[in-house]
Amino acid sequence: MPAQNLPEERREKIPEIVNALYREGWCVQDGFLPERLFGELRTEAGGAWHGGSFQKAGVGRGGDYGVRPAIRGDSISWLDPGDCTPAQGLFFTELEKLQREINRQLFLGLFDFESHFAVFTPGSFYQRHFDQFRGIGLRTVTCILYLNEAWQSTDQGALRMYHDPANPEAHVDILPEGNRLVCFLSARFEHEVLAARRERMSLTTWFRVRNPKAPF
Ligand code: OGA
Ligand code: MN
Repeated sequence: MPAQNLPEERREKIPEIVNALYREGWCVQDGFLPERLFGELRTEAGGAWHGGSFQKAGVGRGGDYGVRPAIRGDSISWLDPGDCTPAQGLFFTELEKLQREINRQLFLGLFDFESHFAVFTPGSFYQRHFDQFRGIGLRTVTCILYLNEAWQSTDQGALRMYHDPANPEAHVDILPEGNRLVCFLSARFEHEVLAARRERMSLTTWFRVRNPKAPF
């Protein structure tokens, strides 16, 4: 299905996201993808997970890098834009549109992106963190698309966003509802993943700049 055949209601989502990034630095957008594309990605993530192609995610950089479940407990599987399924290709087309629109309106100079599926098994979590060490990272905008079906508040597993840097303990909890996209400036907001009571799947993307000088 070529991108131009996506339903018309899709067209408004990207400008809304970019406006919210400009005004607030973060946003939550429900129903980001057409249902069918969302379903395909969810099925593919589940297939990859059960097919054993995930690995434990690590933390730290260079010599500090290691798997530390007391900090971060998810498993991930990187997507390869050069070798992907049609559904992943359509998703990448959407990401390219978002990248272009962010650059056009916010002058962030995003250069490319990287995406992985992630699975948190029940009880696993990711402690409070930034996706970018201030000013020295390439990751500039984080986008997380949740791939779960019928998530209930009793399932827990919220993304806790510390949305007000001037008030460090203020936060909002966002449930990982299927087809919900959370997007934020990577260097500005701390966040954490609370433990869930069921398997929690997502597709996370970081838009990167070429040179590590973050404008925010
Ligand atoms: C991450 C992360 C949040 C989430 O992978 O860095 O913070 O809600 N994920 O899955
Ligand atoms: Mn993160």
